Amino acid sequence: MERTFIAIKPDGVQRGLIGEIIRRFETKGFTLVGLKLLNVSKELAEAHYSVHKERPFFPGLVEFITSGPVVAMVWEGDGVIAGARKLIGATNPLNAEPGTIRGDLGANIGRNIIHGSDAPETAQYEIGLWFTEAELVNWTPTLMPWVHE
Ligand code: RTP
Ligand code: MG
Repeated sequence: MERTFIAIKPDGVQRGLIGEIIRRFETKGFTLVGLKLLNVSKELAEAHYSVHKERPFFPGLVEFITSGPVVAMVWEGDGVIAGARKLIGATNPLNAEPGTIRGDLGANIGRNIIHGSDAPETAQYEIGLWFTEAELVNWTPTLMPWVHE
């Protein structure tokens, strides 16, 4: 079963949006298999955003993600990587469709609330970076037959 890495960034945590965001993934029918609240080290932030290290906004990204607590999660489900990106919406919340997390809850590209892995390779890299195997839970919700044929 496919897994993806999702993080509620410091703005989402500070704004009290943790429950709202988790609710959207739960009600969609994805399964939570990893969850923790943490202060992100500079090393973890730089490794997480390493694909962007040549970009002008890289130092700001690292500074922001280390500025307060982050909720790190792993979600599981068929097509969850692309499906989560759909739930999240476009990078710039001003371009994100209403109904998406960024479209409904955000208004600035530097305060876009949430991160989601963008491909299978990045999902695998990010899950391994943020979680140990022992922190991930293998389980099947009992309502799964009503969510998935
Ligand atoms: P994320 O990685 O956070 O899920 O966001 P994303 O895939 O939609 O966007 P990505 O291109 O990976 O960019 C990572 C984060 O960098 C910030 N950003 N700022 N100022 C800018 O032009 C700019 N472009 C990107 C955003 O916070 C974005 O989430
Ligand atoms: Mg990205």
